[in-house]
Amino acid sequence: MLDCENMYSFYNDYSEGAHSRIIEALQRCNDSQETGYGEDAFSLEAASILKTTMGNVDVDVHLVSAGTQANLIAFTCMLRPHESVIAASTGHIAVHEAGAVEATGHRINTVAVIDGKLTPSDVQNVVDQHHDEHMVKPRAVFISQATELGTIYSKAELEALSDVCKNNDLYLYIDGARLGSALMSSESDVALADIARFADMFYIGGTKNGALLGEAMVITNPILKKEFRYFLKQRGALLAKGRVLGMQFVELFRDDLYFDLAKHANAMAEKLVGGLTALGYAFATRSTTNQIFPILPNAVIETLKIDYGFYIWSPAADEHSTIRLVTSWATKETAVDAFLSDLKRCS
Ligand SMILES: Cc1ncc(COP(=O)(O)O)c(C=O)c1O
Repeated sequence: MLDCENMYSFYNDYSEGAHSRIIEALQRCNDSQETGYGEDAFSLEAASILKTTMGNVDVDVHLVSAGTQANLIAFTCMLRPHESVIAASTGHIAVHEAGAVEATGHRINTVAVIDGKLTPSDVQNVVDQHHDEHMVKPRAVFISQATELGTIYSKAELEALSDVCKNNDLYLYIDGARLGSALMSSESDVALADIARFADMFYIGGTKNGALLGEAMVITNPILKKEFRYFLKQRGALLAKGRVLGMQFVELFRDDLYFDLAKHANAMAEKLVGGLTALGYAFATRSTTNQIFPILPNAVIETLKIDYGFYIWSPAADEHSTIRLVTSWATKETAVDAFLSDLKRCS
């Protein structure tokens, strides 16, 4: 259990189990006998529902258990031995995956960013700096939607990144651990179909949005579709009981549950932003998704830490620090209200 029994956690969006509908579906289908390794009826149905949700596009869907696994397999598939991937310095593959991509022998060309986002000129600069066979050859771009700092790319920004990738023979990969939250952001003009149009490969995160676990990898580029199941198998991602992943995505996308859960997480974050702003606090990034980064006095943080769990992200000027508050599909509004009134009291 997190920290202590009476503490409410804003640490992460995977602190709770799964939405009750998923647990019920797992229970309901428990006795059905299924083919293994992702060829069960549920996984096939999940792929079909996802394709419909994306506008009937010609994509391959593979269900895997976690984001690091998805990212690792994606770049194993995309890169030849001398090739590298460009990412923001804050990108999950660069910071939080224990060097999983590098351990396969591929460099990550990181670009320092403030808001978690890569720009087309960031990408072009890296490409221009790597011009011959004495250097690694950038071959892919990694971005996250939403980013690790809660920000999102607009449709125009994604299109521009897609263009710069096409012009430089780079694959565009989108880490969608928090794709639901990004798509449901009040400021998003991006639909799932747009993601499928711009990315060569991406994944739709389930773990952080109501599933017990699981991510749906989507491949749009025909070159990358070929023999992908071999990459999955070699990395231990082809699960004999793939049904567990299939069932969850069927349930999540059956009637927009996935989007409703993301809306809830965003609404809770928005309420926190409103309360913090009303008390005069500023934020390190401008987030309209389920991760927010307020800057608070250290003394206030110490008091809040007694009853709430959250990460202290980075030190700020004048005895302040940036903290990260994360809301989820299951965050209780009463907890948000309690946090805000406790904050008011100690501010
Ligand atoms: C942007 C992003 N990508 C991927 C992941 C998946 O990480 P893991 O494999 O630890 O579940 C996370 C989880 O924190 C994430 O925030």
